[in-house]
Amino acid sequence: MNIILLGAPGAGKGTQAEVLNKDLGIPTISTGNMLRAAVAEGTEYGLKAKAAMDAGALVSDDIVIGILKDRIAEDDCKNGFILDGFPRTVPQAEALDAMGVKIDKVVEIAVDEEIIKRRLTGRRVCLKCGATYHIRTKKPEVEGICNYCGEKLVIRKDDQPETVIDRLNTYHEKTAPLKDYYAAQGKLATVQGTDSIPDTEKDILEALKG
Ligand code: AP5
Ligand code: MG
Repeated sequence: MNIILLGAPGAGKGTQAEVLNKDLGIPTISTGNMLRAAVAEGTEYGLKAKAAMDAGALVSDDIVIGILKDRIAEDDCKNGFILDGFPRTVPQAEALDAMGVKIDKVVEIAVDEEIIKRRLTGRRVCLKCGATYHIRTKKPEVEGICNYCGEKLVIRKDDQPETVIDRLNTYHEKTAPLKDYYAAQGKLATVQGTDSIPDTEKDILEALKG
């Protein structure tokens, strides 16, 4: 099954991708995590992506489509995948269609913007494996340390309150039109992302059946 998780910054795409990945046994592909890894490694596209990411803008379609295409060609994607953060523009969605990638379901996780702002200021992330935590709602077993790889947790650069506002604006302008794009294909389902993490996952699993 090929699934897209859609939603504003902080809606819980990464969080849900992590639990769905375990329960459905298909890999998660997070373009945000891949770009952050490239920035940390200082690769050529990482250098190009950094300024846009720090400003809460989008990285160019060419770069992101290129990394996505390479990733879904890998062996572990044969039985399906969960896309977290891709597509984010109509041209990216058109590129997926042009590649012949069949998307089964697009699940929008809807969360009120005031809640989003609170979530993002409390978020901590592992830059090594991409795991996401929250200082109140999803604490790691050992404070400040990733449960999975023992790395020190950090605050994402783009989680500064001013940048969050820019990211939300970018979302409304560039990414929200994808709801109509996929609704027109009969693939869109919307779940409320304000319940607990397990309850939201249940709603997503239910939406995937429909
Ligand atoms: P990306 O990493 O994809 O960031 P984003 O879309 O802004 O999304 P976030 O990671 O902030 O939100 P999320 O929905 O994953 O929330 P999370 O689960 O962490 O992209 C970063 C940047 O990379 C972009 O700005 C862009 O520059 C670039 N980029 C990436 N992909 C691109 C593309 N395709 N094209 C162009 N550019 C691209 O949850 C947030 C917090 O809330 C966490 O602390 C979590 O623990 C907590 N939380 C989650 N669910 C719940 C719950 N149910 N109850 C309580 N707390 C919860
Ligand atoms: Mg994320």
